[in-house]
Amino acid sequence: SDPDLVARAAAAKAALGDKVFVLGHHYQRDEVIQFADVTGDSFKLAREAAARPDAEYIVFCGVHFMAESADILTTDAQKVVLPDLAAGCSMADMAALPQVENAWDVLTELGIAEQTVPVTYMNSSADIKGFVGRNGGVVCTSSNAQRALEWAYQQGEKVLFLPDQHLGRNTAVLEMGFSLDDCVLYDPHKPGGGLTPEQLRDARMILWRGHCSVHGRFTLDSVNDVRERVPGVNVLVHPECRHEVVNAADLVGSTEYIIRTISAAPAGSAWAVGTELNLVRRLALAHPDKQIMFLDRAVCYCSTMNRIDLPHLVWALEELVAGRVVNQITVDAETAHHARVALDQMLALPG
Ligand code: 13P
Ligand code: SF4
Repeated sequence: SDPDLVARAAAAKAALGDKVFVLGHHYQRDEVIQFADVTGDSFKLAREAAARPDAEYIVFCGVHFMAESADILTTDAQKVVLPDLAAGCSMADMAALPQVENAWDVLTELGIAEQTVPVTYMNSSADIKGFVGRNGGVVCTSSNAQRALEWAYQQGEKVLFLPDQHLGRNTAVLEMGFSLDDCVLYDPHKPGGGLTPEQLRDARMILWRGHCSVHGRFTLDSVNDVRERVPGVNVLVHPECRHEVVNAADLVGSTEYIIRTISAAPAGSAWAVGTELNLVRRLALAHPDKQIMFLDRAVCYCSTMNRIDLPHLVWALEELVAGRVVNQITVDAETAHHARVALDQMLALPG
């Protein structure tokens, strides 16, 4: 990265001292990650944000829903900054509050809302987390989805899982012994979700029709292809991948799990990793004694994660030095209150 920008970022961070805390998600570019005080998966970063009440500014190098969660979990006096406001998440955008309220009305009319617990993946807007908190549900991340679902099934008979169909299906079927028939797919663009009342009544898991466009690119062919090319390869994927990909993989887990697994792997072992490319590239560099490759032949970065680059980080930090808070992410008090209930419920899950 540009040495001038590196020097400016370092100088701005030094000038701000303990006033600023920089969080970096594992999918961030190297040029940004080098300035993170802490790196992590979404669960770890949410906990880190909540654990830093003394930092006046939290600069979140990640995407919008993560910065919103950080704002909810920090004190009123703390300010959360997202260096580029265009760093959204296409998956989070697939569930809008009016659509989810509409789905809940469908369940209410059928008399099944009462027995349904809403569970939302962290990758959702604060509005959706607020809805889930108001309706007795919980937030989950890719590192605690099973525990969150186990908790939810202690509260009710059915789950409405938002917005990632793959994380919901993979956890229910591969970790909890559900059958594919226990799950139905609710399409917010069709009346009644495109499902019959019987299908909704019979389902144990109502999956929202959302997905991650980055992880959605990996296919069963990607897995078969790498197994043919690299005999003995271990296939390690993120649970946002399609069901057939996760089913064919050897191991599945969050970004933090992927890093732990690769770090503990023996020298000489071969790994095909199905997650975002910035992380896979860093893992390959950090472990030259292991053969680490991207699961697919085509490259795929998360374009919105990549919006946070060094020029944006330098700009945000230098503005803070000058006493100006740019790109602050705030969640209104009413939404934040309910979203916090669902986030606290997640943080209180056992394990
Ligand atoms: P985790 O870091 O929780 O595994 O999430 C992956 C992701 O897609 C974040 O946007
Ligand atoms: Fe959203 Fe997928 Fe990018 Fe994560 S990797 S921020 S889920 S689009």
